[in-house]
Amino acid sequence: TIYNCNVIEFPKIHNRAGNITPLNGLTDIPFEIKRVYYLYDVPGGETRGGHAHHNLYQLIIAVSGSFDVVLDDGKNKKTITLNRPNYGLYIIPGIWRDLVNFSSGSVLLVLASEKYDEKDYIRDYPQFLHLKND
Ligand code: TYD
Repeated sequence: TIYNCNVIEFPKIHNRAGNITPLNGLTDIPFEIKRVYYLYDVPGGETRGGHAHHNLYQLIIAVSGSFDVVLDDGKNKKTITLNRPNYGLYIIPGIWRDLVNFSSGSVLLVLASEKYDEKDYIRDYPQFLHLKND
């Protein structure tokens, strides 16, 4: 359920010259990272996401700027605002997500447990609800 998707705080190595946040697969992040991608140049007012996954685990980070992630498990919804580079949202399989309210210049980093596979996507919302409710 959405209550198993939590925000994780990562270490911040801070000095007068700035910050570093390291992310180690399997220790800082609950899965082995097989893919990294990032979303950027999202036009104002645009929404992304709009799908769920069968098997994919993801960790989403606002490395710059901010946006909201709307999580939906077919029963409950919850909106999480990401706006700090040392926090990440862990999303388990079977959760519908919409990405909204991108600030201008924001960068959304995704760490993923699997390589890209279109067959792993559920892009039809009625089909998602059907899968969740049987
Ligand atoms: P999608 O995951 O639907 O984007 P978002 O959830 O950010 O709105 O992907 C958009 C397109 O990009 C889709 O046609 C597939 C392609 N894509 C890849 O080829 N490889 C990838 O790793 C990802 C994430 C997307």
